[in-house]
Amino acid sequence: YVIGIDLGTSAVKILLINQNGEVCHEVSKSYPLIQEKSGYSEQNPEEWVEKTAQGLAELVQQFQGNVDDIEGISFSGQMHGLVLLDEEHQVLRNTILWNDTRTTEQCRQINEIVGTDRLLEITKNPALEGFTLPKLLWVKQYEPEVFEKAHVFMLPKDYLRYRMTGEIHSEYSDAAGTLLLNVSKKTWSTEICELVGIKSELCPPLVESHQLVGTITSDFANWTGLSESVKVFAGGADNACGAIGSGILSEGRTLCSIGTSGVVLSYEERNDQDFQGKVHYFNHGEENAFYTMGVTLAAGYSLSWFKDTFAEKEEFEQLLQGIDQVPAGANGLLFTPYLVGERTPHADSVIRGSFIGMDASHKRRDFVRAVLEGITFSLNESIEIFRENGKTIDTIVSIGGGAKNEAWLQIQADIFNANIVKLSSEQGPGMGAAMLAAFGCGWFSSLLECANKFIEPVKTYQPVKENVAQYQKLFGIYKQVYEQTKVLNE
Ligand code: XUL
Repeated sequence: YVIGIDLGTSAVKILLINQNGEVCHEVSKSYPLIQEKSGYSEQNPEEWVEKTAQGLAELVQQFQGNVDDIEGISFSGQMHGLVLLDEEHQVLRNTILWNDTRTTEQCRQINEIVGTDRLLEITKNPALEGFTLPKLLWVKQYEPEVFEKAHVFMLPKDYLRYRMTGEIHSEYSDAAGTLLLNVSKKTWSTEICELVGIKSELCPPLVESHQLVGTITSDFANWTGLSESVKVFAGGADNACGAIGSGILSEGRTLCSIGTSGVVLSYEERNDQDFQGKVHYFNHGEENAFYTMGVTLAAGYSLSWFKDTFAEKEEFEQLLQGIDQVPAGANGLLFTPYLVGERTPHADSVIRGSFIGMDASHKRRDFVRAVLEGITFSLNESIEIFRENGKTIDTIVSIGGGAKNEAWLQIQADIFNANIVKLSSEQGPGMGAAMLAAFGCGWFSSLLECANKFIEPVKTYQPVKENVAQYQKLFGIYKQVYEQTKVLNE
């Protein structure tokens, strides 16, 4: 058996998986967000450790077998969050999370000091509020007494792993989201550190995602009931693990994952592509591989906003009833999902959403369909960038909320103009983490071999020619809405 721990933003989810890739036990423990001011989003790292230990203890109790048969553990983690430790490895302040937006000014400073082109050359990504370096600079500027004491910074799941093993490491897939990693060379960028005035010693040693970093401490073993000999592997960023757990492990493989935010992500074998920073470009959890990724901030969130506002008492299923009877294009109604700004391709925290083309004859289901189409159009902007840069996107694995509704799966096939594959069971990042442990334990000769055994497609949705043509026309109009409505929020 292996364990995959997915340290998310709202909860930690823990999976116990057997050698056939079947989920034997599953535990989830939630923890709160700390939002002291508008735009602030923090968490207390101690909560992650406590909730994970409690969850593991429950999992071990549920498990009927011999704990010594649990061979390995690995991790998936929410990206970008800044954990700061002092010389004694005590946490210096709450973690500033990926969805905290206080750092617009620090992003401007990074662009000015490093230069946008040089930053892109080294890190492959632009300065965005969510990333780690702007958070470090914020602490340096506003909490100098904290910053002075900082001895090392860590990412969320790396801190959790440190508390379980006593070993300090980061790994490439999460380090890629800091803006401090030279993504193609896989080294911390001393150049950026020097330019922005950060000691490069703050950056932890780097390992591969499947690399063994140690075993758990006897304290942690006592706390959870796990065996002290269980092997701990580094793990990866949640998006990298989501990709692994959905079999996105060879060129051309693409993932569409719709949760609160939505992600389209494509495997990239090259380290020298140039997406001009319009989409993210990160190291994969597979050695020497990469992925390119676009993010729609309010994906599932747009739908839950609509439900909470107009159909509070209904279940999602009820809300989505009848949308398959509305023709492609929602009878002329178009929605842009910029309710909380947009990440890719616009990197615009100020833009807001819209419904246009409202007609007195429109019914609620037209609005619901328009919301789903708008979310999918937004993700298609990233797919378009992948294609413009020469990537072949013909088959996309869809997971998350977007894979729960047949009509939405067909909308994805028609808007993305690609085959959409649904999996028999989707565990996303937690499964990817468990696969890293399985591969690390030597169960398979590659992650791909592991994916072929653990992951099973059940159904493919093919694009319908007339719908594709109709959506291509509408997509042109969709893109203009951003330009035209930008002025409203300036
Ligand atoms: C990726 C990002 C989010 C977090 C969520 O850039 O900010 O997907 O990783 O956990």
